[in-house]
Amino acid sequence: MAQQAKTLSDLIEALPWLDKFAESTQNTTNAIFGKNNATQKVKDWLNGTPLMHRLHPALVAIPIGAWTTGLVLDLLETRAEKPAEWARSADAAVALGLIGAVPSILTGLADWTDTYDHQRRVGIAHSMVNGIALTFYGASLGLRRADRRGYARLCSAVGFGVMTLGGMLGGELVYTLGVNVPHITYPKPPNEFVDLLASADLKEDKPVVAEAGRVPVLLLRRGESVFAVQNWCPHAGGPLNEGEFDGDKVSCPWHGAKFCLSDGRPLQGPAATPLRTFEVREEAGRILVRPTDSARSWPPAPAPA
Ligand code: FES
Repeated sequence: MAQQAKTLSDLIEALPWLDKFAESTQNTTNAIFGKNNATQKVKDWLNGTPLMHRLHPALVAIPIGAWTTGLVLDLLETRAEKPAEWARSADAAVALGLIGAVPSILTGLADWTDTYDHQRRVGIAHSMVNGIALTFYGASLGLRRADRRGYARLCSAVGFGVMTLGGMLGGELVYTLGVNVPHITYPKPPNEFVDLLASADLKEDKPVVAEAGRVPVLLLRRGESVFAVQNWCPHAGGPLNEGEFDGDKVSCPWHGAKFCLSDGRPLQGPAATPLRTFEVREEAGRILVRPTDSARSWPPAPAPA
């Protein structure tokens, strides 16, 4: 039975209640941005269209940088002989992060408005987690004003941890799910079994590539087992069939990432995303495959207009 290693975004797939919230939020953002030419122009700027560069990744550097600085200054405050000076600077860093979060949220919202399915679900989780971080930092600023410095520092530290989790989800959105990456790079295989080739054409230890839909699938027969995984390396698309095979492992020919063929797990970098695996069925002299995990986490094809 084929297995599939799970990513952080796969875990979010187990939270279907997010869809309802995501759908109603997206309906609202679509209604706002699509209201007239002026609102469309605003969205264009938030997407970074006139600059020909996405703005969200650039702007998130402000709260992340400010709050990281705040964390360091908070630590220094607890150790300093004259803590008041460090305290003032730490408070300013927390406030700057809160101000800088506003354009980050707006640009992120504009980018998320055009996502679908799994991307949309992970995107709303990303924004909710970052919203929690923001709340902790807002509370921290309030506590700083009330001179409750111990609690304020605690809120900032928790906020920092939550923000880090939000950042990891943001990374999943781009690196794993390909948000704002041309979808042609990420075709999606059919969910049902697809007949790929005759059993006789798959010889022991001789990798073969065959297409399930538009997805090139790497097949390898090893004794009783037939491994089937996506043929493109998730790091930068290297053709795995041209790599080196060792037992149930394959090395990418381009930058040497290694993967387990049983469940797709990355075993050596630079790749950090599992290969998608396929369930294999051999019957009547033919080899058929379908995605192991009901096509979870395959970045979705664009929705029909
Ligand atoms: S493309 Fe495979 S390791 Fe870089």
